[in-house]
Amino acid sequence: MSFPKDPIRVACLGAGYFSRFHYDAWARIDRARPVASVNRDITKAEATGLPAYARLDEMLAAETPDLLDIITPPETHLQAICTALDHGVRAIICQKPFCKNIDEAREAVALARAADVPLIVHENFRFQPWYRTMRRAIDEGAIGEVHQITFRLRTGDGQGPRAYLDRQPYFQDMPRFLIHETAVHWIDTFRYLLGEPDRMFADLRRLNPAIKGEDAGYLLMSYADGRRALFDGNRLLDHAADNPRTTLGECLVEGSTGTLTLDGWGRVARRAFGAAEAQVILDRQDWPGFAGDCVHALQTHVISGLLDGTPLENRAEDYLKNILLEDAAYASDAAGRQIEV
Ligand SMILES: NC(=O)c1ccc[n+]([C@@H]2O[C@H](COP(=O)([O-])OP(=O)(O)OC[C@H]3O[C@@H](n4cnc5c(N)ncnc54)[C@H](O)[C@@H]3O)[C@@H](O)[C@H]2O)c1
Repeated sequence: MSFPKDPIRVACLGAGYFSRFHYDAWARIDRARPVASVNRDITKAEATGLPAYARLDEMLAAETPDLLDIITPPETHLQAICTALDHGVRAIICQKPFCKNIDEAREAVALARAADVPLIVHENFRFQPWYRTMRRAIDEGAIGEVHQITFRLRTGDGQGPRAYLDRQPYFQDMPRFLIHETAVHWIDTFRYLLGEPDRMFADLRRLNPAIKGEDAGYLLMSYADGRRALFDGNRLLDHAADNPRTTLGECLVEGSTGTLTLDGWGRVARRAFGAAEAQVILDRQDWPGFAGDCVHALQTHVISGLLDGTPLENRAEDYLKNILLEDAAYASDAAGRQIEV
């Protein structure tokens, strides 16, 4: 699939909390040109400085963008994708969690496929530079045969009755929270680093009574060849970092000839098996944007996929597996046993 237009004209749906990172990143990509912003409350769209609209259909008719970037919550996704396809957009990026459930997500995939329009999920964590570095190191054999990976999420923002209210107040009302909203990033990142698991076990709990969903728990993804990927999350506890939102926690990848560690500053180090000291292979940096500038990295990846034909990661059809794994996690927690996926 090649995309003849350069620069690609991009319009965004959504001008809430997280959208600032999308608008900032689009403005830094030469081969994309942001052309419009849509938000139900039009004052937020106006604040982006782009031509502003309150309704998606009106914007699409007036601006005819090539690409729609959807930065609104899951309940809006399927409708927005249908409207965009009806108006002839050439490509769509949609934020996670992708659609309300697996049925809607499958419908969105089928509609985009029928229209021959690439539909990409904005799953940005796998684009964080530390996971790209870890993947390269694994591929180069720097730690030998990988046995296991652990990520400890310690955001430290989940304590007390005011938890999350200043930044993302909707967190308090989500009936599915830690896995659906947050751990889904590591379900995807573990797939990026280790490939496809075939079993899921989850043990979830709610620690803060001010919120509806779970805010702590373990996910264990098992691989047929014996490897294991463990997500250990607790939003009430913290980790060492100047900004706990850089990595949200700490990661350890263990292999037969060495280990890789990620600290709260985004630093990756490799320690050889049997050695006492580790060598830094990605140092701390003053990254612009969000969390290692991963929004910019994802958007750049999509633009080069569309213009240069480089392989696209995160296509919505591939993302369906993340939703199935998430559903398996909740089913496992309810049943108290491992679930095959
Ligand atoms: N990938 C990440 O790292 C990351 C981080 C934060 C949030 N998110 C996701 O991004 C999405 C948006 O999150 P947020 O924190 O910006 O939410 P938000 O509630 O702050 O913003 C959403 C905006 O969309 C507008 N809106 C909603 N429905 C609309 C519609 N039908 N038409 C026009 N405007 C509409 C709202 O008025 C609001 O301004 C969520 O799905 C969230 O999970 C992803």
